[in-house]
Amino acid sequence: IRSVRDLPVEGRRVFVRVDFNVPLEGGKVGDDTRIRAAIPTLRHLLERGARVVVASHLGRPKGAPDPKYSMEPAAQKLAELMGVEVLLADDCVGDGPRKVVQDLREGQIACLENLRFHAEEEKNDAQFAAELAKLGDVYVNDAFGAAHRAHASVAALPKQIRDRGAGFLMEAELDALGKISKGEVQRPYVAVLGGAKVSDKLAVLEALLQKVDALIIGGAMANTFLAAKGASMGKSLVEQDKLALARTIMTRAGERKVDLLLPDDFVVGTGLDATSGRAALPDEIGAEEMALDIGPKSVEAFSKKLRGAKTVFWNGPMGLFENEAFAAGTRAIAKTMSELSGAFTVVGGGDSVAAVQETGLADKFGHVSTGGGASLELLEGRKLPGVDALR
Ligand code: 3PG
Repeated sequence: IRSVRDLPVEGRRVFVRVDFNVPLEGGKVGDDTRIRAAIPTLRHLLERGARVVVASHLGRPKGAPDPKYSMEPAAQKLAELMGVEVLLADDCVGDGPRKVVQDLREGQIACLENLRFHAEEEKNDAQFAAELAKLGDVYVNDAFGAAHRAHASVAALPKQIRDRGAGFLMEAELDALGKISKGEVQRPYVAVLGGAKVSDKLAVLEALLQKVDALIIGGAMANTFLAAKGASMGKSLVEQDKLALARTIMTRAGERKVDLLLPDDFVVGTGLDATSGRAALPDEIGAEEMALDIGPKSVEAFSKKLRGAKTVFWNGPMGLFENEAFAAGTRAIAKTMSELSGAFTVVGGGDSVAAVQETGLADKFGHVSTGGGASLELLEGRKLPGVDALR
């Protein structure tokens, strides 16, 4: 895969697929992390005298224009962050964008309208890709977050443009997550997995078990493991149909000599919207209570394990951190990781990344992925269509 650094971009139109699929709040960009992350590539291209065209999807519109999902707020935020003029086209194909790109002046960026306003995008339609190809002489993919989608702008389009390559963000993501997924890292290598369901993380769990020295499991998915060991978890979320699977995973961890850590205690509450919780050991969970966060003993035990690590990968929150009453465990784990000196720390996946951003500690991590699904698929060892298409 060629790097944007090595592509002949001077004076040429460069189509940059970015992932500006950002959360919106009241018509404005809520979290601009993904926009910031694309800036090094865009700056490099402008400095090299390229005519830059950025394109992205936003949300999941139903294959037709929907003003709710316009790229307008993202384009505005990009202009603000870069201090350059960003011209928004009224569509991503056809005469409108062609004119905008044609009229681009030095230092300006053209932003296409939401790619998913056309159903052909998600169908990976070659004809639609050919229309997009008319807007660029060179193709750069910096949309790591969308690399697991076999969609036209990600998969079909690059195959139609000979000068194609990866942007700086894509390179950084593939480098950090690639090392993590291959286990080509310094040891001890400790992975922390959280989130609600074992079933969502099964493939990642199995892939990590082959590589790590220790696996820490928190979040509601830990409930299923504890229930499989015979703990009574009250009204906690437990996947009853995954108990046997949880036992198999624990056996496999034993066989591979992977140290598997589960929570020793919890913060329990009466429901997802409870406004307070109390610390409880597994056998102290009341019949009407739910485990909604890891407790202080677990934070201590997990932190101790993390402090001995040379490499850490984290995916998934330790509890219901969007509820203030159950956010402490996730925050404490983020803090411990941020304080590790001499360890390579990687966070991947939407919710744990949001937790890290929220604590303001993101710059203390080795790598914070902009990819949700994409980072998990990479970890699972699956091929990403958006990466393959760059080869
Ligand atoms: C993401 O946010 O994970 C990517 O932008 C992909 O979005 P999607 O899940 O709607 O395809």
